[in-house]
Amino acid sequence: MRLIVLSMFVAFGIYSHRMVAARKRAEEATTMAGVELSQIFETAADGMRVVDKDFNVLRANDTFSALSGMPKEAIIGKKCYDVFSGHLCDTPGCPMNRVINREERVEYDSEKFRADGAAVPCIVTATPFRRPDGELIGIVEDFKDISFRKETEKALMESRERLRELASHLQAVREEERSRISREIHDELGQALTALKMDLHWLSRRLPRNDTALQAKAGDMSGLIDGTVRSVRRICSELRPGLLDDFGLSAAIEWQAGEFSKRTGIPCDISSDPEDIVLDQDRSIAIFRIFQETLTNIARHADAGLVQVTLRMASGRFEMRVRDDGKGILQPQVASTKSFGLLGMRERAHDFGGTFVVRAGRKGGTTVELTIPTGEEGAQ
Ligand SMILES: Nc1ncnc2c1ncn2[C@@H]1O[C@H](COP(=O)(O)OP(=O)(O)OP(=O)(O)O)[C@@H](O)[C@H]1O
Ligand SMILES: [Mg+2]
Repeated sequence: MRLIVLSMFVAFGIYSHRMVAARKRAEEATTMAGVELSQIFETAADGMRVVDKDFNVLRANDTFSALSGMPKEAIIGKKCYDVFSGHLCDTPGCPMNRVINREERVEYDSEKFRADGAAVPCIVTATPFRRPDGELIGIVEDFKDISFRKETEKALMESRERLRELASHLQAVREEERSRISREIHDELGQALTALKMDLHWLSRRLPRNDTALQAKAGDMSGLIDGTVRSVRRICSELRPGLLDDFGLSAAIEWQAGEFSKRTGIPCDISSDPEDIVLDQDRSIAIFRIFQETLTNIARHADAGLVQVTLRMASGRFEMRVRDDGKGILQPQVASTKSFGLLGMRERAHDFGGTFVVRAGRKGGTTVELTIPTGEEGAQ
């Protein structure tokens, strides 16, 4: 009996020793977890703070203190909207209210203000922590400083804008240059050819009537001069379509479509509403060049049998749609940064606050849609 009592006593001793050791290990583990969490909080690269459900700041890490420009002692105990606040703080629109109203995680972009008044763009994430029964205890806020990203974005936007301005300037210079060359060719060569034609006429009238060889030569020369005059006119029109300046956009587009059909054998139907569309010179030349490039693309790439063009003026906007029934443009070609022709057309439209869209049609073919505000409500 004494032996049984003794062995029970020993067993109980071992059991309670093991229980104490296990509890000690659990306590140590809890303490370690606390230390780890605390270290993660303190050394986080993002600014972090913990607030209770009445918005009092309970805790803040070093990064938050540096970000807000305030020492930790000055932060703790303050209302969260009095430290590193933004425009929505302490208003009904404050995103923290969404956490209070049971949203699990709220993320938003916000401009926060340091103690010295400097603005810091941040991505803020607010996450609630709750009791097991769901009651809110407080909110952990994480502030990611995105100043560098914003500055890079701004620099990128500015650089893009400068490139756009440069491209637009180069286009304008190119148009001026084309105009000048066209004028010079027209005036210099045109006058010289007319004088040549008149001289040849004068000469041929004085040639002996019975010298058929000389008469034939003069006839050939006259034909050559006529051909050269036509070439000069064509080159001048391509450089700067006089029709555009003299008769307006619709006439110039019709003429260009006619030239295209003559050259390629592809019919080009045009419907224009109203019949005569007249726009200012800059818009007219931009639209005309886009139309020319669109037709060149159809001739080179589409393998089309018909082109349909619709021109329209509606509520202060010019609209042009060019549809071909060819093989259809592919999405990678639309999106490619190497599609300089398409890129140029987009940029030209952008110069006037317009849009340029090119896409494959649902039933095949390619459709180009251009919209340019005319700057005058109801202009025609
Ligand atoms: N109407 C069309 N039908 C089918 N494919 C087209 C059409 N228009 C354009 N594409 C495709 O889109 C690509 C890009 O056109 P883009 O005008 O930018 O360049 P490109 O005509 O090849 O060269 P360029 O710089 O001389 O204009 C073309 O290479 C062609 O493959
Ligand atoms: Mg092209």
